[in-house]
Amino acid sequence: MHVAIIMDGNGRWAMQRGLPRTAGHAHGAKAVRRAVESAVRHGIQTLTLYAFSSDNWARPRAEVTALMRLFRRYLMAETQLCVERGVRINAIGRRDRLSAALLRVLERSEQLTEHCSKLHLRIAIDYSAQHSILEAARRGPADQRHWRTLLDEVNHSALPAGDVDLLIRTGGEQRLSDFLLWESAYAELYFSESLWPEFDEKGFAAALADYNGRQRRYGALVTEQGGNPR
Ligand code: FPP
Repeated sequence: MHVAIIMDGNGRWAMQRGLPRTAGHAHGAKAVRRAVESAVRHGIQTLTLYAFSSDNWARPRAEVTALMRLFRRYLMAETQLCVERGVRINAIGRRDRLSAALLRVLERSEQLTEHCSKLHLRIAIDYSAQHSILEAARRGPADQRHWRTLLDEVNHSALPAGDVDLLIRTGGEQRLSDFLLWESAYAELYFSESLWPEFDEKGFAAALADYNGRQRRYGALVTEQGGNPR
């Protein structure tokens, strides 16, 4: 099962407490840790987290810098734990605009967790679904390969992640914000009112329970035997 999360609400969480937005992101990193643990516990195969969209470059420079530093710190602090838990780390998105320092740490995390197979944790940094699709289309005709493979290549996805089954967005808003548009063609959408820093094991379990109660038809009719057409 592939779960994808749009982690929204860090800024509001901080503002409610009279803290700078960057404090919200720091607490958001703790929620990332919890989400990874929850995903392992629930036997999820793939978890894709939207950490930084290509449009987020438009945020104030100080916030962008703080976020990039947070990603680097998270990777430095969590990689060993991921190895122990069988979590393979992979970033998706553009790499050409990331700092050399972040890229170095990221590539190290990817290499150290390459053999891990319990959970594939994909962190979307400088990611835009539209950009990925356009890039894949641009490359496509030259070698006639399958779209999905091309998208994985564009996104530097070491493992083919397949379609999203459940897409969660926290923070109360209900939009896709250029996240995994191709892969979410038949994703079940779940919107949580919780702000990301407060999203916890209970919230994760509630989203999964909701998903498990859905009937997925992929545009077909439900068969008499029940079950998903795919
Ligand atoms: C959206 O909240 C969140 C982001 C743009 C950043 C997401 C980053 C993290 C959760 C930090 C840690 C991530 C990793 C992978 C270690 P917002 O700032 O738009 O919140 P708002 O809508 O309340 O302003």
